[in-house]
Amino acid sequence: MILGILPPEGFGRAQEFSPGKSDRCHYWSKYSRGESGVHRKNADDYVPFYHIFSRADDAESFLVFRRQKPICRAKWGFRANTKVSCRDQQRFEMSKISIMWPKLPPAERIAPYLKAIDSSRIYSNFGPLVLSFEERLAAHFGVREEMIGTVANATQGLTLALAALDVRPGTLCVLPAWTFVASVHAAVSAGLTPYFVDVDPKMWALDPDKMDDMIACAPAPVGAIMPVAPFGRPIDVAAWDHYRARTGIPVVIDAAAGFDSAVPGHTPLVVSLHATKIIGVGEGGFVLTTDEAVIRGVRARANFGFLGARASIAASTNAKLSEYHAAVGHASLDEWADARAEWITVAAAYKKLLPESSRIQYQAGFGAEWIASTCVLSFPGSDTRKIACALSDAGIETRRWWGEGAHLHPSSAEFPRNALPVTETLVKSTLSIPFYRDLGLAHVKLVTDTIRAAMAT
Ligand SMILES: Cc1ncc(COP(=O)(O)O)c(C=O)c1O
Repeated sequence: MILGILPPEGFGRAQEFSPGKSDRCHYWSKYSRGESGVHRKNADDYVPFYHIFSRADDAESFLVFRRQKPICRAKWGFRANTKVSCRDQQRFEMSKISIMWPKLPPAERIAPYLKAIDSSRIYSNFGPLVLSFEERLAAHFGVREEMIGTVANATQGLTLALAALDVRPGTLCVLPAWTFVASVHAAVSAGLTPYFVDVDPKMWALDPDKMDDMIACAPAPVGAIMPVAPFGRPIDVAAWDHYRARTGIPVVIDAAAGFDSAVPGHTPLVVSLHATKIIGVGEGGFVLTTDEAVIRGVRARANFGFLGARASIAASTNAKLSEYHAAVGHASLDEWADARAEWITVAAAYKKLLPESSRIQYQAGFGAEWIASTCVLSFPGSDTRKIACALSDAGIETRRWWGEGAHLHPSSAEFPRNALPVTETLVKSTLSIPFYRDLGLAHVKLVTDTIRAAMAT
């Protein structure tokens, strides 16, 4: 039975192993390098990576070795006759420094809320926990509870907010190409055709001041606009309120990652509560707007069109948050202040060990004015593929969260688009590095040292 897995000092992450199939695996039976297999042949190529305890007395411990020489993707050294199941392989993959490691509140913090569900025997349909969660969210953002509407996820929230603004099906929805594909799906589900336009090079978001020109170039009537808060960076909601008031065009802001930067305005703003976000419930989201009619519209459309009575008032779906998700939401809010401080600490460590310069940039205000669950760096003038490769060789995961841009997904092929030079530059010049609230200083140092070394060559 495998009892645990520990990194050699200063490297890797301690990881719990549950007994399972791995019982049957035969790994290295002793620590000594060069004892057998590939090590004897190329001992210098490999370094100890993980120490796996299979018995409490250490008699059956073994080490997993990692190839030392850079070979673009990290390779793992196992004894030639070792049987390693896919699951074990996955576990070793997980042992690298992952791009993210979500951490929702522990069971004991959720338990009191779960017990409340046992007592109420109300499991969904805007039960007491959802209503009190909405109240707490409203207090957090300094608005009335009628200005917050929870939903099953942000994708549905975006669609329902568009619908609640009575967008005209068949018209175009102006969208930045620099977004996650969920924004596109949300517009399509609202009956709109996405029209991809470019973002501002400084904000990485749509610029309301350039919107009239963009709309003038649109190949068909524009029925809505969906600005996206890039990776949680604040959006100028007041500017969009103003734009909406001047033009009458419905606007819904996709602030999926923007819990910490969201500012209430008349324009609906949709936040995700997915487990990967800065505050999570598993799957969930909410719409925030001072326009209470929009929240009523979202609430009805998330509940078969019912609003108080059992007559369905509009084409709708079922996108309610369950009481169980609200239970996690309450526990997440309970620990939000501490969690935020942890996230900020990790961001500060990155900024200290890898200071901002003309060659390395963090998103403006990241870790100081606002925080999110991803750390996206831009490397103007550097080859990010080379940096990603060097990090991968060191067992460090990177990600391009938005791939080549939302417009290049096969599902977007039919949708019209404008010239996208800024998006194309961002695709090449940005890279996400590991970021989670309990990322240790040793790991931050390893990531930053590796980036620096890659940029020096
Ligand atoms: C920009 C953007 N919009 C929408 C979504 C979808 O959020 P959800 O998973 O809550 O549907 C995401 C998810 O990461 C996102 O990044």
